[in-house]
Amino acid sequence: MEPTTPYFLPHIARMQGYIPGEQPREAGIIKLNTNENPYPPSPLVVERLLAACNEGLRRYPDPGATGVRQRLSRLFGVAMEETLVGNGSDELLNIALRCFAGPGDAVVYPYPTYAYYETLIQLQGARSVMVDFAEDFSLPDSILVPDARLTLLSNPNSPSGTLLSRERVEQVVARVRGLVLVDEAYVDFSDGGSLDLVRRYPNVILTRTMSKSFSLAGMRLGFGFAPAALVQGMWKVKDHYNVNQLSLVAAEAALDDLPHMRANAARIGATRQRLTARLREQGFQVWDSQTNFVLARTPGPAAAGLYEQLKERRILVRYFAQRRLEDCLRISIGTDEEIDALLGVLAELL
Ligand SMILES: Cc1ncc(COP(=O)(O)O)c(C=O)c1O
Repeated sequence: MEPTTPYFLPHIARMQGYIPGEQPREAGIIKLNTNENPYPPSPLVVERLLAACNEGLRRYPDPGATGVRQRLSRLFGVAMEETLVGNGSDELLNIALRCFAGPGDAVVYPYPTYAYYETLIQLQGARSVMVDFAEDFSLPDSILVPDARLTLLSNPNSPSGTLLSRERVEQVVARVRGLVLVDEAYVDFSDGGSLDLVRRYPNVILTRTMSKSFSLAGMRLGFGFAPAALVQGMWKVKDHYNVNQLSLVAAEAALDDLPHMRANAARIGATRQRLTARLREQGFQVWDSQTNFVLARTPGPAAAGLYEQLKERRILVRYFAQRRLEDCLRISIGTDEEIDALLGVLAELL
């Protein structure tokens, strides 16, 4: 939709803008559309948040997110100077694009992937180079674009849920001349992870989030790792008080209770396995997922219709009306009860 006023910069006027998954306001909906965690965050998070709701909120938060970065440094064995904290990992992606991609610069990413990359590229007036994933979501060599300023890899990928091997990611990092940003929003549900590449290569940025495995989507907390020289420059671009006080408190508490996150991730992994097997029995094609969602190609009925019918039954999944995904639904892993309800309704509809 083009704004009708003449004031916008032309490249902004032309943009469609990112369309987030629906966040319904009514209760009683089984919400499997935006890859939130169905389980609550650590009790420690709630306890510390309640304690932090006091007159101290009149102050600005720590612009350096020191407490969070100290924990990241200790837990992941990196220097504090190699850590970044953002208002969701979306903000870190945003900062990276603003730092490294100017008008006309080539930014490469595989398709289909997280649609926000395209929005950020358009915001910069940069040039997107989309490279189709193979049918099995392996990465073709055409991802290696010599003049790319930046290559974006969601690993595991959304919406496919598939994971590229460490070796494949390293091949890309070693063979391109520009930067590679590996978006590991879903890494805690997988057996992957490319943190070692940050130590070994000067051109790698890794982003992660507390929105998924840590059950903190509402707090908007992302973190990242990169060589100190990159972090130092990226720091200049972020809003000075980019992460609010309560989000910092929540993030510190969540990092102080990793077993809680790991137990939930394991539980979600078990439900994912069960959902995958049952959907395949029902005739769906399901790609092997290493995330908290699955991508399922419908066995016959149009995916758009199935999405609508599920919605009528108050079950919300994600349908993307775009090339390669027209016949697919992306289903976030809910609780076992929610997944049973979904499977029951699907059995009736099919
Ligand atoms: C691949 C990918 N990267 C990043 C994000 C953004 O996460 P955050 O909530 O940390 O901004 C998402 C959210 O769905 C995602 O799917």
